[in-house]
Amino acid sequence: MIKVKNVSKSYKNKKVLKNVSLNIEGIYGLIGPNGAGKTTLMRTLSGLISANEGEVLIEESDVMNSESLIKNIRDHIAYLPQDFTIYPKATIYECLNHIAMLKGMKDKKERMKRIDKVLHQVNLQDVQTQKIHKLSGGMRKRVGIAQMFLTEPSILIIDEPTAGLDIDERIRFRNLLRELSKDKTIIISSHIVEDVEFLCTKIGILKNGVVLQEGKPSEISQFSRRLVWEITIQSDDLAEVLKSHTVVDIKQKDYNHLDIRVLAKNKPANAKPLEPTLIDGCLSIINGWGMGEECNGAI
Ligand SMILES: Nc1ncnc2c1ncn2[C@@H]1O[C@H](COP(=O)(O)OP(=O)(O)O)[C@@H](O)[C@H]1O
Ligand SMILES: [Mg+2]
Repeated sequence: MIKVKNVSKSYKNKKVLKNVSLNIEGIYGLIGPNGAGKTTLMRTLSGLISANEGEVLIEESDVMNSESLIKNIRDHIAYLPQDFTIYPKATIYECLNHIAMLKGMKDKKERMKRIDKVLHQVNLQDVQTQKIHKLSGGMRKRVGIAQMFLTEPSILIIDEPTAGLDIDERIRFRNLLRELSKDKTIIISSHIVEDVEFLCTKIGILKNGVVLQEGKPSEISQFSRRLVWEITIQSDDLAEVLKSHTVVDIKQKDYNHLDIRVLAKNKPANAKPLEPTLIDGCLSIINGWGMGEECNGAI
């Protein structure tokens, strides 16, 4: 369990994290629009930057306020930045070997054994002699994951893991994370709810540096209870509906009709109520709707 308590961070005069408190456990999804402060929070958690106020407790140890502990804890934390780029002209193997040396793995035999193991874990063993700049986005992400596992971290912090991946790669990457997540705390940030929906056991929603809500996916979904509707419209009316409604999804019903999933406090005319999903819940919270009084106040 990682407890984030009243963490604030400013860049110059701009406060980008405002009294952030979270209880992070399991596979944790940090959701929020661009600029919400997700990356800043992740960099703070991984010890790359320090907050101005507040504390981060890992298994009840105060990380932010103890230098020696930070060193110790850092050995257990692996961070994968969103824009992970490494030596483009080196091969996958050379990269991992170099990073392993930087991580202090001096014994060559042991290092080779470890690299071999992580290459298998991320299924890159057959392409280990390929150069980084020749890899697809998905393969490059897998190299990023592989380097996290060179040590044996118990906490993985992964910023926007599926950004820039195509659909196939996203699904494969999600499955890989699920496989590797056993007995670990994983924090994943995303501005795309679908990316965390099938993976995360708990979710925190951040907007403008403020935590709007935290809970299990099923609890988050409930914030959109009685707010989700389906209306069927003529295809020609779409532009009008997009202007006047919060549209979550659009499906072609038949030749000239569309089924539109909308969020609305009051039942639109001829609307059919729908079961809320995590996306509906997140959008309701981010828009300041739903049953949470706090979220209304925070926006
Ligand atoms: N190094 C920095 N210097 C100044 N402002 C920054 C810096 N890093 C981030 N910010 C600002 O902090 C806010 C939060 O950014 P970030 O943590 O990257 O959000 P997210 O990852 O949710 O998109 C943004 O307004 C961004 O412009
Ligand atoms: Mg970011």
